[in-house]
Amino acid sequence: MNNGIAILGAQWGDEGKGKIVDLLTEKCDAVVRFQGGHNAGHTLVVDGKTTILHLVPSGILHDNVKCIIGNGVVLSLDALSEEIEILEKNKINIDCRLLMSDNCPLILPVHIALDKAREKKKGKEKIGTTGRGIGPAYEDKISRRGLRLGDLSDEKQSLEKLTELLDYHNYILKNFYDSEIFSPIQMHEKLILQYEAYKDCIIDVPEYIEKLFNDNKKIVFEGAQGTLLDIDHGTYPYVTSSNTTVGGIFTGSGAAPKKLDYILAIVKSYTTRVGSGPFMTELFDENGKILSERGHEVGATTGRERRCGWLDLVSLKRSIIINGFTGICLTKLDVLDTFKKIQVCVDYHDNKPIYKEYEGWEQSIKGVSEFKDLPENAKKYIHDIEVYLDVPIDIVSNGPGRKENIIINKFF
Ligand code: IMP
Repeated sequence: MNNGIAILGAQWGDEGKGKIVDLLTEKCDAVVRFQGGHNAGHTLVVDGKTTILHLVPSGILHDNVKCIIGNGVVLSLDALSEEIEILEKNKINIDCRLLMSDNCPLILPVHIALDKAREKKKGKEKIGTTGRGIGPAYEDKISRRGLRLGDLSDEKQSLEKLTELLDYHNYILKNFYDSEIFSPIQMHEKLILQYEAYKDCIIDVPEYIEKLFNDNKKIVFEGAQGTLLDIDHGTYPYVTSSNTTVGGIFTGSGAAPKKLDYILAIVKSYTTRVGSGPFMTELFDENGKILSERGHEVGATTGRERRCGWLDLVSLKRSIIINGFTGICLTKLDVLDTFKKIQVCVDYHDNKPIYKEYEGWEQSIKGVSEFKDLPENAKKYIHDIEVYLDVPIDIVSNGPGRKENIIINKFF
């Protein structure tokens, strides 16, 4: 059995990772987030109750699981406080289970203002970011200007650092974007209070992970966003600002590559994208509307409608090259239940998709829990994807609930 399991989005995010992390976590000891921030939206449905997580790892609904925020995550302490408050209201026990790295770069209100001001100035050319300050916070990290969680342990020095950082950004906000500026004192006071509340959750993440592995514990590394949004390998510049692909796990948590035994691709049975940028198989017709409505394709973070299209096997091949997936979880297959014909993109020609057409199964697959009980046309759809991608499909998800899955190969 596998001890180090990665769960990564193979498309443009929103593939249904949260649900699968939650499912696998039943058998795991820890879940680690290693990139992104509260731009993510992981929807979990347990006993009919929906919980949307943005920052806290999706293992939090399981009482004995440690939830770790690695150094690669850009951390908004405001967002964290809000999320913890909601979880506590829902009687989810957080104590001693949420742990974080002191190296996490902080997302400050000034980053959010910069993100929004930039998008506004770009107008029609905008990236369509979530407006959570993700890009500007990562820029500060790379430029070595940023404030990190651990910096707040020293009140005097962190105030100096924050003042310098705000001086720099205020100049740009005022002179380039004609926007409001920020003063350090109040912001710093709040950060110190927040730090006091969370300082006991700060750990040395690489060492902690190493110890868990040495004690034969199981760890899930939970990706956010998807491969095609990767800052290096995605559809640049219409991407997020972190490495959403497998390499991000090692830099963003300090876990060693050899500890990873299994890399699971989460692939939606069709394709969606939020924000701007190319989308080869995008649909603007009735079929797109059906996917959107049946799939409830509205962003969990921003409430924006997701763009919808057919499955694109060409871009998935690329995802496989980059991530070296061991297996695939095909999600939301039930969304395709009503289609008479289903298209799958198997090639590009002159910048247009070439489709292979499949007969739909035109019946509900909800409640099916064994592969053999699926309609023949659904089996063929799954089988052909597997053959084309040359990676086994180990799980099929056929509904939002925790138990709505068909486990083909039990690898956990
Ligand atoms: P940012 O991550 O807010 O900078 O946004 C950059 C791009 O990534 C935009 O197209 C967003 O819509 C997209 N994005 C960010 N987070 C997610 C996510 O969790 N799911 C899907 N798309 C996302």
